[in-house]
Amino acid sequence: MITPLQPTHNLKDSIEQRRAARSFSPAPIPEEILQEIWRLGVRSPSGFNLQPWRFVVVKEQANKERLRACAFDQRQVTEAPVVLICCGDRRVNQTDYIESVIKLGKDAGAINDAFADIMRSSIPSLFKNPPCFDSIEVWTNRHTMLAVAHLMIVAKSFGVDSCPMEGFVSTQVKEAFNIPPEVDVCCLLPMGYAAEPFKLYGGRFPIEQVFYSESFG
Ligand SMILES: Cc1cc2nc3c(=O)[nH]c(=O)nc-3n(C[C@H](O)[C@H](O)[C@H](O)COP(=O)(O)O)c2cc1C
Repeated sequence: MITPLQPTHNLKDSIEQRRAARSFSPAPIPEEILQEIWRLGVRSPSGFNLQPWRFVVVKEQANKERLRACAFDQRQVTEAPVVLICCGDRRVNQTDYIESVIKLGKDAGAINDAFADIMRSSIPSLFKNPPCFDSIEVWTNRHTMLAVAHLMIVAKSFGVDSCPMEGFVSTQVKEAFNIPPEVDVCCLLPMGYAAEPFKLYGGRFPIEQVFYSESFG
């Protein structure tokens, strides 16, 4: 019997011990751990299960160097054994794509014909008259970053550190990595094993400052 890969950190420790790593050792991440991080990371939720996230997995040193040149020369990009270019795909409103999500749900037994029809009408109108976001880019970014949060916590549960990064020039990354015009780069995520102690914990605002009771403020 194959024993499933088990995390080394529980959920609470993974959350408390995850820090943005600015330096990585060259030690590779075992492929079976990477695959498990990908599998669990994309268990992240999305509206209508549209899953707009796409990830370019960069491991080749020459490509990491090209990416670092688009990322204000931040050294974690070339030090980390794996860097994800985390993208949001705006083509989720296209008919073929919606049909592929319906098929996925039907194959899983989770969607019936009536709900499939609701998806066919509701998804295009969601993006035509967005009720709660300014543009589809905001929507894809919202979902991709949720998946990135999952990835970081799951990675930490397997002892793998990461660094979410918005310090990059999107147009340069898109050109260098063949990313289509309808796809946005939401963040970079170097992953590996931290080589240096993390920066001192910067703290978080107290709960009373960021959670409000019943109405804002
Ligand atoms: C969307 C996003 C973008 C970030 N961009 C960068 C970056 O470009 N370079 C960097 O060194 N850290 C970056 N960080 C890391 C933050 O500085 C770090 O998460 C924050 O200081 C809190 O520290 P902690 O994650 O260790 O708790 C980013 C974090 C987020 C969530």
